Amino acid sequence: MTSGTKMAPSTDAVPFRIKARENADLVRHYLEHLKEPMSFDVFPDLRVYDELLRQHSGIPLTQARVFEIGVGERPYRLLALRAMGVDVRGVDAEVPVVRLSLRALARVYRRNGLERFVKTLVRRSLFDWRDNRAFRQTLTRRGLRMPAHEPGRVLVADAAELDLEPGQLDLVYSEDVFEHIAADGLRRLVPRMARWLKPSGIAVIRPNVFTGITGGHLVEWKPRTLLAPNGRERRTEPWLHLLSEDFKTNTYLNRLTRADFRALFSEHFEILAEDVTLPDLGRDLLTPELRERLAHYPDEELFSNQVRFVLRPRAGGSQPV
Ligand SMILES: C[S@@+](CC[C@H](N)C(=O)[O-])C[C@H]1O[C@@H](n2cnc3c(N)ncnc32)[C@H](O)[C@@H]1O
Repeated sequence: MTSGTKMAPSTDAVPFRIKARENADLVRHYLEHLKEPMSFDVFPDLRVYDELLRQHSGIPLTQARVFEIGVGERPYRLLALRAMGVDVRGVDAEVPVVRLSLRALARVYRRNGLERFVKTLVRRSLFDWRDNRAFRQTLTRRGLRMPAHEPGRVLVADAAELDLEPGQLDLVYSEDVFEHIAADGLRRLVPRMARWLKPSGIAVIRPNVFTGITGGHLVEWKPRTLLAPNGRERRTEPWLHLLSEDFKTNTYLNRLTRADFRALFSEHFEILAEDVTLPDLGRDLLTPELRERLAHYPDEELFSNQVRFVLRPRAGGSQPV
């Protein structure tokens, strides 16, 4: 399915110098890690979904009907679930490209525009062989095989405009997506998610929250560069996105805080758990002087980064928005 509007949420209308800087940083970041492949082991996340489903819904992941919001350009979680035989579908506003081909590139250009097209071309020509091999090896280690190509399982659409059958899903999950959807879109999407789920179902939603040190989505503040510093001096100070009025980066960010997400979810869901992936990320960089300038934000916000919200639809259901 493809909706009519053209969308490319992974890029934003920012001045050319910001685009150029961020794209150059991105290429450098990829090249630095060329020999050391990114981890495509999505199984730790799937194990968490399985544990949460068993705990809150009484079923294993393999028996669940699942939907992913924002599958990404390379939908590895969805593919791994298919390899396990799970009934999973998903949506993304941008065209996923599992295998680079002229046809796939033409579709990316038509649907998501020139910048997304160039990014896909460069990234996929440089890294496809390495990333797909790493992913295949991850599957093989578990005795699984790459699933068949099933384009119908991924809808290309704005998740906030999606209509799925009510009460059919056991699990809705999303990773690093909800910070990219405008607040009014989220106000439509969140009650819909509650409606799509069975009463026993759960949503597991992990945004990279704006107020954390990685929340500005600058390449030089990626978690990977914080966990394994490359020795290069950074151009920007930590938490610049909270300190500077005119902070911009090359992706759309809704700037919601952790408290905002909590309020948004709790209108339609009971929050069963809230877990921060890297609770101390950036603690050594928060000097007393910086803490003073960020006095407006509690520690809970500054040390948020990826926050996994585990949600159960409120009894009585949600009305259409
Ligand atoms: C940072 S990527 C994360 C992709 C994937 N979940 C992962 O963990 O690798 C964010 C994804 O969200 C998608 N996205 C952003 N806004 C969206 C929307 N309104 N509807 C559907 N997808 C959206 C983007 O196209 C992009 O693929």
